Amino acid sequence: MRKNSIKIAVIFGGRSAEHDVSLRSAESVFRAMSPDRYEVVPVLITREGAWYRMPPEISSFAPGVVPKETDRLLFSPDPTHRGFLQIGEGGEILSMYVDLVFPVLHGTHGEDGTLQGLLELANMPYVGCGVLASAVGMDKVLMKCAFRDNGLSVGPFFWFLRSEWEQDRDSILESMLRRPFPFFVKPANLGSSVGISRVTCMEDFEAAVSLAFSYDRKILVEDAIQGRELEVAVLGNDAPVASVAGEVIAHSNFYDYEEKYIRDTAELIIPADLEPVHNETAGKAAVTAFRAVDGSGLARVDMFLTPDGEIVVNEINTLPGFTSISMYPKLWEASGLAYDCLVDKLVVLAMERYEIKQLVRTDR
Ligand SMILES: Nc1ncnc2c1ncn2[C@@H]1O[C@H](COP(=O)(O)OP(=O)(O)O)[C@@H](O)[C@H]1O
Ligand SMILES: [Mg+2]
Repeated sequence: MRKNSIKIAVIFGGRSAEHDVSLRSAESVFRAMSPDRYEVVPVLITREGAWYRMPPEISSFAPGVVPKETDRLLFSPDPTHRGFLQIGEGGEILSMYVDLVFPVLHGTHGEDGTLQGLLELANMPYVGCGVLASAVGMDKVLMKCAFRDNGLSVGPFFWFLRSEWEQDRDSILESMLRRPFPFFVKPANLGSSVGISRVTCMEDFEAAVSLAFSYDRKILVEDAIQGRELEVAVLGNDAPVASVAGEVIAHSNFYDYEEKYIRDTAELIIPADLEPVHNETAGKAAVTAFRAVDGSGLARVDMFLTPDGEIVVNEINTLPGFTSISMYPKLWEASGLAYDCLVDKLVVLAMERYEIKQLVRTDR
């Protein structure tokens, strides 16, 4: 390890339905970080939410690893602590200085702005979107409102809370009768297709609602959009750029959890076979979506290309799947940026964003 290497905490795992996906993404990030340039400290957040410093080895990212109780970490929101604290064997508090945090957490408590809020309080530089972009990008209702307000097309949708469903189910059912089948029922705040159902008849609606409510207190119902499913990677801070578009061809009814992570049958076509004009409009829509949520660092924007050539934006993912075979890094590879260079670039963007934030006055 060189003396001038950057010390980076890669935080992974997390109290989320996407815990396992995070393990795989973090392992890829770890592999890509050259020990000549980076000293990586893997920090595991367990499914229960406990934080542990893990050895800097690939085995730290395996599912089911039991961390050592003596490696337990705390994260202090007090900027004078500079982040991580470790409790020594005699009960003494030791600080663990890092230069930067690379959150590789998907879904709730990681991609949704909560972790980013803690990092902001600690004044710690970190990779990726800030609190606002992360939170808006996690809520499928608010993100669609932001997209729409910035001139993007989104499909018809409506949303309701569990309490409204419990108190006034009949009026929700009644408004459903006016919608065309099929439609999608989704938890507002999740990813990886967890809790999502494609509903083709009214008999299946209540089961879909129960499933979605088991993951969130807010759900949305969306009309199904006919079209090809495109994904575009965005990279940058205030002047973000788009990769080429990729296409997902799912072989089940939709691109569900099984196809994403278990059967692995979905085809990822990178780059998508598109007319140049569609590649360009997809890229422009992705950058607009990124700016609409005030993104920074990275995000993947997913959209549909309808048969009449319209782009309908589906969602933004502020911490997209990041394994070396995931769409986000593959799109950059196809655009001329290799995985390890992408990781370097994200670190530089994080430092730039941090430095710009330091210029903001906190006094009168
Ligand atoms: N309105 C829709 N029309 C058509 N397909 C949809 C629609 N919404 C979701 N899907 C399908 O379901 C998948 C998962 O939905 P998505 O909104 O992307 O949730 P997640 O955040 O879990 O990835 C999409 O990749 C797509 O295949
Ligand atoms: Mg998606």
